[in-house]
Amino acid sequence: MPGTGLYNQRERITGSEQHINLSRRAASEGMVLLKNEQNTLPLENGRKIAVFGKAQADYVKGGGGSGDTTTAYVRSIIEGLEIKEKEGKIEIFKPVSDYYREYVKGEYQKGVGVGFVKEPQLPQNLLDDAKNFCDTAIITICRFSGEEKDRTGEAFDGDFYLSREETAMVEAVKNNFKNVIAVLNTGGVTDTLWFRNDARVKAALLAWQGGMEGGLATADVLVGDVCPSGRLADTFAVNFDAYPSSENFFESEDYVEYTEDIYVGYRYFETVPGASEKVAYPFGFGLSYTAFEVENAKFEKKDEKIEFSCDIKNIGKRAGKQVLQVYCEAPQGKLGKPKKVLVGFCKTEVLEPGRSETVKIEINPYFYSSYDDTGKVCKSAYVLEAGKYTLKAGFDVRDCRASFEYEIKEDTVLYRLSEKCAPHGLHKRMLSDGSYITVKADDSYPKPVYDESLLPLEYGNPEESSKWYMPWRAWGEDGHPTLLRVFKGKMSLDEFLGVLDDEQKIHLLCGQPNRGVAETFGVGNLEYYGIPNIMTADGPAGLRVPQYKGVNTTAFPCATLMACMWNTSLAREAAFAGGQEVYENGMGIWLTPAINIHRTPLCGRNFEYYSEDPFLTGKMASAVICGIQENGIACSVKHFACNNKETNRKDSDSRLSERAMREIYLKAFEICVKEAHPKTVMSSYNIINGTRASTCRELLTDILRKEWGFEGLVTSDWWTHAPQWEEINAGNDLKMGNGSPELTLQALKDGKLDREAMNESVKRVLKLIMSID
Ligand code: BGC
Repeated sequence: MPGTGLYNQRERITGSEQHINLSRRAASEGMVLLKNEQNTLPLENGRKIAVFGKAQADYVKGGGGSGDTTTAYVRSIIEGLEIKEKEGKIEIFKPVSDYYREYVKGEYQKGVGVGFVKEPQLPQNLLDDAKNFCDTAIITICRFSGEEKDRTGEAFDGDFYLSREETAMVEAVKNNFKNVIAVLNTGGVTDTLWFRNDARVKAALLAWQGGMEGGLATADVLVGDVCPSGRLADTFAVNFDAYPSSENFFESEDYVEYTEDIYVGYRYFETVPGASEKVAYPFGFGLSYTAFEVENAKFEKKDEKIEFSCDIKNIGKRAGKQVLQVYCEAPQGKLGKPKKVLVGFCKTEVLEPGRSETVKIEINPYFYSSYDDTGKVCKSAYVLEAGKYTLKAGFDVRDCRASFEYEIKEDTVLYRLSEKCAPHGLHKRMLSDGSYITVKADDSYPKPVYDESLLPLEYGNPEESSKWYMPWRAWGEDGHPTLLRVFKGKMSLDEFLGVLDDEQKIHLLCGQPNRGVAETFGVGNLEYYGIPNIMTADGPAGLRVPQYKGVNTTAFPCATLMACMWNTSLAREAAFAGGQEVYENGMGIWLTPAINIHRTPLCGRNFEYYSEDPFLTGKMASAVICGIQENGIACSVKHFACNNKETNRKDSDSRLSERAMREIYLKAFEICVKEAHPKTVMSSYNIINGTRASTCRELLTDILRKEWGFEGLVTSDWWTHAPQWEEINAGNDLKMGNGSPELTLQALKDGKLDREAMNESVKRVLKLIMSID
């Protein structure tokens, strides 16, 4: 049981050096080298540099909200570079860095938040002095985003695009130094034009938000202590307007029509005629300080699956890692398809020059089948259409080192399912040629109501439960059974349920007060029956304990960086370490990973999410879930589903086709559920095709449980806008942060809450509690 002090015997691991080193290692592994003309990087042999931009001191370790963490320190880029200077690797022009550092310090003292400091105007004399000192300049740019707010994509917005002040600084540096290197400390996609096609900028490193040691990890890559091996998990387009989702992102606060359908990210850019020219850096792309080639490539069809193997050889001069990616090109058929779909990948270990590693990838055709929601081939089924299939292995979505072709003679149905979560308010969907077809929409469908009187009050209950520790006992004081009897197999769960009254059952379906250092509430808390209060905790970049609780934890890099590692074993290792911290601090349910798809660059929480691609997301997140749950705790994979916008997040309707939902937005969850067995899933705030996710029976019961075989618990997100009984009826077992016991009990009496659904939910809560070590 978490919180029992089992770790008393051991050295404390939360925020330990060991974990911080792991965070640094992960950070450098996911950074992506976008440009490197004339081998400008790595900086070697005591190179003299000047570092520009307030972002060198205003380091953004990760995003805000529940994905934030409290740490003992955060290492900025300039601090990271200074460590390298002490090691004699580089020489920094101090006056410029001191200027920025002092300025940022002053702004922080005035209350400006991390990442929000405005770019100052650099005094001309400092620029001149720096120019006399060296010919190499690093430009730093940072971005912050967080929960409940989306980003912007307008010229000079200081978000997707550079601000006017940043532009001025960038121009000044470009005009004065021979070797200019751009470093981006961001959590999502930003504009790259200012360095991409400008010969004055020779190198660019996408350093992401790298956690508490992100500044040092950035320096590790810049000086060549680490050879960059991160590969893009998102397509970087030439500008914001190039993303098809940009057009209507802000059309309404009440809904978003996913009109680009399945053509999200590279599925759009690599497929639709003319779109490929709008790509600045393709999906899967990333440079290295060394070079690789593929040898002995072999595809083999084995029954239903295809196996690929090859040797990846380092043919360059430095040690490094490489990522091998396999894409499938399926025939357009009757349904139309993305030109390419990622179906397999793996990453090598560090290879010394001249060395090679044999890699093997198993490819499952399910991942390149199509979901037919129109009935052109077979209604509501996953199908492989007749035609030629080509598998291509390479180092990014456009690269091909080996390929394999085979034919499917006739249309093949893989799984026949049934219509679920069909759209009402979607008016058009994109086809693979980029045109749209009109969808028959019914705008008169009933919208979910938001009635505050039916909801629990949002509260941040500061009260610490004194009953937080419940020793396991077989019998309560007056002889009634406790959960331990069920745990030991001496009593069935149904028998145990029989001794609980309705009020107690409903209590178990409502969030419970915090104890210890928890802030996001617990579940259970029925001492009389030996049911402990298991605490939950955020979040995706490390255990989040609020500052006032006084516990520093390890901040790992943001999820997008983790996805760019393409390294499932390192993701698992980091997740295990984070899970240890959760356990050690007395929590049992970790509210991570967050795996919504990067539909648009503007979603304020993209930093918490992995990628535009569901396969990469699903595989990386599965590794994370396995790592976390190895600690005996539960994780809560979130936000299920289609939570791709923060504006009006509790009442915004995501309107999309069944096909887009299944192939893009549910796929990563499906992979996780089937491969990693998360103990809990968190339903999302938003509405999906007219029904709130947390009250959507077709989603939570029919798809999640019946189709995918999920056996765990579904929790709501914190204070959804749906009455609790509707959620329970749909298969959403638990209402967090707190529930509404009185209203829910009344709903039971009124016959609105289904008794059987309630009992099932209670059983799931109890099973979850018993499954936590
Ligand atoms: C977020 C969740 C988070 C929860 C608890 C909600 O606002 O959407 O991701 O886990 O709060 O902090």
